[in-house]
Amino acid sequence: MIVSAKEMLEKAVEGHYGVGQFNINNLEWTKAILLTCEELKSPAILGVSEGAGKYMGGFKVVAAMVKAMDESLGITVPIALHLDHGTYEGAKACIEAGFSSIMFDGSSLPIDENVAKAKELVEICHSKGISIECEVGGIGGEEDGVVSSGECADPEEAAQVAGLGVDMLAAGIGNIHGKYPDNWAGLQFDVLEKIQEKTGKLPLVLHGGSGIPDEQVKKAIGLGVAKVNVNTECQLAFAAATRKYIEEGKDLEGKGFDPRKLLAPGTEAIKDVVRDRIACFGSANKA
Ligand code: 13P
Repeated sequence: MIVSAKEMLEKAVEGHYGVGQFNINNLEWTKAILLTCEELKSPAILGVSEGAGKYMGGFKVVAAMVKAMDESLGITVPIALHLDHGTYEGAKACIEAGFSSIMFDGSSLPIDENVAKAKELVEICHSKGISIECEVGGIGGEEDGVVSSGECADPEEAAQVAGLGVDMLAAGIGNIHGKYPDNWAGLQFDVLEKIQEKTGKLPLVLHGGSGIPDEQVKKAIGLGVAKVNVNTECQLAFAAATRKYIEEGKDLEGKGFDPRKLLAPGTEAIKDVVRDRIACFGSANKA
């Protein structure tokens, strides 16, 4: 069931658990995540970066595929189709294409411009029943060409953007996209606490969810994080399983070259990551 992310995240804040945003790249990714969420009776958010949207043939293709697959597979759990790190133009295109949720990432803009654009998009989204995430304080690392230095968000700025009526807020707290370096300092819980004090029950979003130790993820959920974004972990698991299949020469046995066989181990590996993350976030049986 494709829905906005608003209600599932409000329930997560009340219930002190997190909802996973799992990024999708193609049909296999989408199917693996939908089936696993249904199996575990967990709500989830399918994240689509602008790069992934382009790769799949455009946002309209993504929306059509996700909606049709959700229906054909008989998915009953709440699923939001969400633009990840959208530009202002990308956000408008996804609203048009039928996404149920969008993220406008104006964190690299001067705060006044970020606020003005976010305000306009909040109004448009809410008039259409679409949920909206905004961001303050860049998330470090690199994702689909979007590079940020990863500062911690200013709690005052977080309060300013929260006051626009956004449904969820991404605020940098030392988290980064991609693999964490060995000398990573960990999440800055003092900053998270200050942000939470200023934003009350607003669901907070933890980007860069791959590779953060489970205790830190759980502590963040206890401090108001209701959405945890995971992308790299699924990519690494998919690549490792596919590599193993080919290195074992399975593509050369019988019809092992059939893409439905070749992509099966990677697809199963994504399911395992999603099961593991849902267990950590505590969202099983919360649909
Ligand atoms: P990772 O790729 O580090 O899991 O980050 C995902 C993310 O934050 C998507 O916005």
